[in-house]
Amino acid sequence: MRDYYFNTDFDLGSSGVYSFSLRDIQDICGPSADEMASIIFDDSMTQGSPGLRSAIASRWGDGNAEAVMATHGSNEAIYLVMNALLSPGDEVVALEPVYQQLWAIAEHIGCELKSWRLRQDRHFSPDLDDLKAVLTSRTRMVVVNFPHNPCGVTLTRSQQQELIRVVSTVNAYLVWDAAFSDLVYMGERLAAPNHFYEKAITFGTLSKAFGLPGLRVGWFIASPDVIHTCLHVRDYLTLHLSPMIEFIAQRAIENADRLLALRLPSVIDNLDRLRSWATRHEEWIEWIEPQGGVCAFPRLRAVDDVQAFCQELAEAHRVLLVPGTCFSIPSHVRIGFGSTADRFNEGLRRLTQLLDIYVRC
Ligand SMILES: Cc1ncc(COP(=O)(O)O)c(C=O)c1O
Repeated sequence: MRDYYFNTDFDLGSSGVYSFSLRDIQDICGPSADEMASIIFDDSMTQGSPGLRSAIASRWGDGNAEAVMATHGSNEAIYLVMNALLSPGDEVVALEPVYQQLWAIAEHIGCELKSWRLRQDRHFSPDLDDLKAVLTSRTRMVVVNFPHNPCGVTLTRSQQQELIRVVSTVNAYLVWDAAFSDLVYMGERLAAPNHFYEKAITFGTLSKAFGLPGLRVGWFIASPDVIHTCLHVRDYLTLHLSPMIEFIAQRAIENADRLLALRLPSVIDNLDRLRSWATRHEEWIEWIEPQGGVCAFPRLRAVDDVQAFCQELAEAHRVLLVPGTCFSIPSHVRIGFGSTADRFNEGLRRLTQLLDIYVRC
């Protein structure tokens, strides 16, 4: 992403919906120029401003702002939680494949990593028996992300309950990355597991469903002792968010449904287009329709080296696509369908052109 994100014109790689401007946010969510101008650039609270935490708690938690910590994107939340709770040698079970930070930080700390593998031959559908097979009484943390980046799979409510039960039998922390919880097309929306398990930690973000990746606002919901430990880690890192960012983020969350309503129709149209494209080119593409999020993870049958393919697509055709090698699944690619219809169509057209060349070779 570092190499190609800023050097391509058509984004079929990202995992969020296309971004809003400050003007959009002001028009939709109401912070007036006057309100913005009266923000004082004081330090903010390490845990996040009470207004922002209340907005997060009301929408995704149980209303208790004390159970929320606001962070610089959920990336900071992942970093804080793992550094606060894990020590070298701790056993951590993480989904595989999974968003890189969710395992790399635990690995960097020196934890012993085990995988709950989403199997290709089962279309990446999560199987709780596979999780049970790797859990032990030493497991300190189980790390999951549903709806899943990049595979687009999720759990049913009863599977979520079973997951909580299984993790609680070994008394491990359950890290639940809910980055895409507001983007579900098939199946059930899942509540934060904190409602059912006190050792659950739920991550959220404004970067994916709400088109605000550059605002850099994420959070986690956890028990007071976890938050307390994370506050100390943050003292050595970022201290707090800017009051201006907190103010905009609070308004965005208070108007989250309006932001979603402005992006969901184009996401659903793009998904329809992707479905027709995949059906039209069945001989080239094997795919499972995503249940949530804005990514699909198809296999390109004609492409042996997806890394080289994505490089050529980026350099010669200016289209960003993520090779499955980034997720250790080399035959697949991640296609994001969160961009505008025009850009998505043109990106797909260029991708088809290159695929056609590969198929003929
Ligand atoms: C599953 C998941 N979690 C967390 C993040 C981090 O998002 P941010 O730091 O922008 O909130 C991402 C970004 O791609 C992601 O895919």
